[in-house]
Amino acid sequence: MRILTGLQSSGAPHIGNYLGMIRPAVDLQNKPENDCFYFIADLHSFTSQKDPKIFAENQKFAAVDWLVLGIDPEKSVFYRQSDVADLHTELTWYLLCFTPMGMLERAHSYKDKKDKGLEANAGLFTYPILMAADILLYDANLIPVGKDQKQHVEMARDLAIKINHHFGEEIFTIPKPSIDENVQTIPGLDGQKMSKSYGNFIGIFEEKDAFRKKIMSIKTESVPLGEPLDPDNCLVFTYHKLFKNPRISSLEKEYRDGSIGYGKAKEELFELLWDFFSEARERREHLLQNPELVSKILSNGAEKARDISEKKLQKMREKMGLAS
Ligand code: TRP
Repeated sequence: MRILTGLQSSGAPHIGNYLGMIRPAVDLQNKPENDCFYFIADLHSFTSQKDPKIFAENQKFAAVDWLVLGIDPEKSVFYRQSDVADLHTELTWYLLCFTPMGMLERAHSYKDKKDKGLEANAGLFTYPILMAADILLYDANLIPVGKDQKQHVEMARDLAIKINHHFGEEIFTIPKPSIDENVQTIPGLDGQKMSKSYGNFIGIFEEKDAFRKKIMSIKTESVPLGEPLDPDNCLVFTYHKLFKNPRISSLEKEYRDGSIGYGKAKEELFELLWDFFSEARERREHLLQNPELVSKILSNGAEKARDISEKKLQKMREKMGLAS
């Protein structure tokens, strides 16, 4: 089974990203029957962000962060979309010429972004078709994405079906979105969905003091010390569970018999999370100081990606009547 997904390159990952996207991607990669393609979707970021300094920063950190959080370039093909930009954008053009305007006009994500005041440029409008090219070039079967991206994967599927039908031959594999319902909504500090735009997130690689402060500020009810606490309605307890605290059943007892207060439960959560990411933090320092290691990994990945996507693109060129 070929699994493929694009990783946004915009800014520092938070624990919602980790639980919702990174950990599931790593779990998929670690099953031997899967053949995973993970890439940094840096070309997509130009639809909203055109500062070259910020772009370079994001690009650098995105690769390092995913590597230290578990993407293993020995097991997955890990690459940057911009390193195969020629192939992805060329296929995008052919796909656009098969895309009915109405398909793009119905895209929720475009409408939402426009309503939020994002500049409505043609790149943002045709964004799903670059995404379709990302998918179809690699004959991917399964596309793990968040709910907001499901419609985009369906567009890729519809285009594959349409083009295969047009040429009377299976040129593209029909992809399917995969949405993990369990990890849909990771709550943030205030209980709403954790999101950069709500400012309620815990950044994985924040400085120790800031990290601790964030954990201590998780919203809890005011219950006098010594009174029982309800683990089923407590964000702090939810995080203990999500990060698999080995002491979870004793902790639950302490909640119910009132022998632990929120302060202590948060302190323990801080220790748990700080330790959980400590190895990643160390590897991150190492990679940031040795950028040539990251470049090497990315160029190996790009080479593998190019091998595969070049063949698929060549097939499409021939079908379109372009001489080989
Ligand atoms: N648009 C996706 C997102 O915002 C990222 C992405 C780009 C992607 N190309 C892709 C995801 C191809 C899956 C497959 O999260």
